[in-house]
Amino acid sequence: MKCSCLRNAAGAAAVILASFSFCSPVLAAVQSDSGAAGTEGSQNRVLVAYFSRTGENYAVGSISSGNTYLVAKEIAEQTGGRLFEIRTAYSYPADYGECVKKAREEKDANTRPELAENIDVSPYDVIYLGAPVWHGDLPMAVYTFLESGDFSGKTVRPFNTHEGSGSSGFDVKIGKAVPGASVTGVLSIQGKEAQNETHKLPFKVRNWIKSE
Ligand SMILES: Cc1cc2nc3c(=O)[nH]c(=O)nc-3n(C[C@H](O)[C@H](O)[C@H](O)COP(=O)(O)O)c2cc1C
Repeated sequence: MKCSCLRNAAGAAAVILASFSFCSPVLAAVQSDSGAAGTEGSQNRVLVAYFSRTGENYAVGSISSGNTYLVAKEIAEQTGGRLFEIRTAYSYPADYGECVKKAREEKDANTRPELAENIDVSPYDVIYLGAPVWHGDLPMAVYTFLESGDFSGKTVRPFNTHEGSGSSGFDVKIGKAVPGASVTGVLSIQGKEAQNETHKLPFKVRNWIKSE
């Protein structure tokens, strides 16, 4: 019952978001960040893997740094972990409406999009895993990432950004995808806050990191 309510709420949010249109010009932007913080030799063996999209998005206009990326960067800075961007082999449309449509098709088909590159997770004990909420769920590419690695015995700490759907059960969904891992509570931050109020991120991230 609880799950179905959550699904309905997430679906409703997706419909609302999908019907929102923008007037601002689209700026196709590239994020170059894999390995930007921390190293494979980090003593704490922390990986910060994230999916994030640039271009036109809900409530923030056209952005050159994705909302989730900004949170991931802060986590990497605080933990000394290695940043890894989960990217698909193809680019999602910079246009918000077109991206919503593409993501919907992928979710409906339960697709596992090919990744542009992957990372061996075996050297890491703790994996911070972040993504935006897409249609009440993880972007399908994150499932590709989860299903292609051995997460047994790892601790996975999920975080997301969203525009109303909150945690969207990311911890449960990730736990189902990697049953051998220990999955902790989700850090959820509204996308427009991550984008426009970045000064709040250090405090929120620090408290969450300390919480478990
Ligand atoms: C394809 C798509 C689907 C989305 N679906 C939802 C949703 O179901 N619920 C929600 O709260 N936000 C939804 N959003 C908004 C994003 O979760 C939010 O803008 C997020 O911060 C984007 O993060 P990013 O910049 O790292 O990609 C959606 C955005 C896109 C592009």
